[in-house]
Amino acid sequence: MSTKEDKVKDVSEDGVEESAETTSVQTGKTDPGNGAEGPIILFFLVGLLISLIIGWVIFPKLLYSHKKQPFDFNHALHMGEVDNGCESCHFFREDGSFSGAPGLAQCIYCHDDLQGVSPDEVVFVENYVATNREVPWLIYSKQPDCVFFSHAAHIKGAHMDCTVCHGYIGESDHLKVYEENRITGYSRDIWGKNIAGLKKNSWDRMKMDDCAECHMEATGRTSSVQTKKDGCFVCHK
Ligand code: HEC
Ligand code: HEC
Ligand code: HEC
Ligand code: HEC
Ligand code: HEC
Repeated sequence: MSTKEDKVKDVSEDGVEESAETTSVQTGKTDPGNGAEGPIILFFLVGLLISLIIGWVIFPKLLYSHKKQPFDFNHALHMGEVDNGCESCHFFREDGSFSGAPGLAQCIYCHDDLQGVSPDEVVFVENYVATNREVPWLIYSKQPDCVFFSHAAHIKGAHMDCTVCHGYIGESDHLKVYEENRITGYSRDIWGKNIAGLKKNSWDRMKMDDCAECHMEATGRTSSVQTKKDGCFVCHK
């Protein structure tokens, strides 16, 4: 009994709504120049612009804290001074492990005394060489402690170039600012240069998916490469 009434009610309500819509559309059509849309559209565009600025300019700036290296270091200059290229400072030890960021031992050979007049060298020699303290370099490519990465597998095994993962740091005149993500603690070089996740170069980002993506591509060539599905303990300790 009640269902019939409800149905009738529904229909009549729908009818009312429909007619209301039609009238509003009709009014819009018949009165195109009432001018109310102008300020609304402008308001919307201004709001959109503000959120775009917050999202693309302000938020990324707030998201990353900027840290300076203890002092600047010029790779290009040093490549002209050393005899053994990159390996003068970044080399494999006897046990096959990678030396990583150089220690004082790779520097004092030349810097037991000042070589020039650069203020960066003065900081280096006075604060570190003279006091025999290792330089606390910030590592742009630093992965969390749970990740196992082997330079030997990639450089000796797969003959990869440093630039594939690091870009052109080895040819630079200056060390760039280190950017640390305030939320995750990751370096920007790991978390991604582009906040939208777009990647132009292979070295723009080095998250788990980036490692896995290349490993998957490489599976065709090298059978020993494992992908994410094959096991987490290839890359995790
Ligand atoms: C005279 C020593 C020296 C030589 C030669 C040298 N480097 Fe470096 N390299 C350094 C120092 C010092 C740093 C600073 C450590 C840091 O900030 O990571 C560094 C940092 C780097 C980093 C940054 C690692 C990171 O994630 O923080 C890369 C990549 C690198 N060097 C590549 C190269 C390449 C490629 C070459 C050869 C073209 C080269 N280096 C030659 C001393 C040297
Ligand atoms: C083969 C010799 C040699 C070695 C090894 C070497 N340097 Fe130098 N370094 C030089 C010379 C030469 C200059 C240039 C001085 C000038 O003309 O101002 C220089 C300049 C510098 C400067 C000032 C210019 C700049 O790079 O910003 C710093 C800082 C510096 N060296 C740090 C280091 C560190 C750290 C190491 C070890 C990782 C190192 N050097 C290893 C020879 C060397
Ligand atoms: C397949 C990618 C890849 C390639 C190729 C590669 N690296 Fe790295 N490199 C990394 C990753 C990832 C880390 C960080 C490792 C970590 O934090 O455990 C790193 C770390 C470093 C560091 C800092 C290590 C430290 O903690 O002291 C230096 C210096 C460096 N690499 C230099 C080089 C040089 C020089 C080459 C070329 C001979 C090279 N890398 C090739 C991925 C790569
Ligand atoms: C651009 C390609 C590329 C990228 C990026 C890359 N890898 Fe690799 N990786 C390889 C290749 C190729 C091998 C195989 C070397 C071999 O079989 O000798 C390998 C081997 C390894 C191995 C040794 C595996 C084994 O079975 O012995 C580990 C561990 C590893 N990668 C970890 C990582 C991690 C962690 C990252 C990201 C931080 C990474 N890789 C990024 C190409 C890449
Ligand atoms: C090819 C290398 C590789 C393999 C295989 C891999 N991971 Fe990772 N994983 C990484 C790297 C590099 C990071 C750090 C960068 C990031 O967070 O994306 C990471 C980060 C993580 C994190 C976040 C840890 C943190 O401290 O933020 C978790 C969780 C994780 N991996 C789980 C897994 C599991 C589960 C598997 C197996 C299904 C796996 N991973 C396989 C390379 C790998």
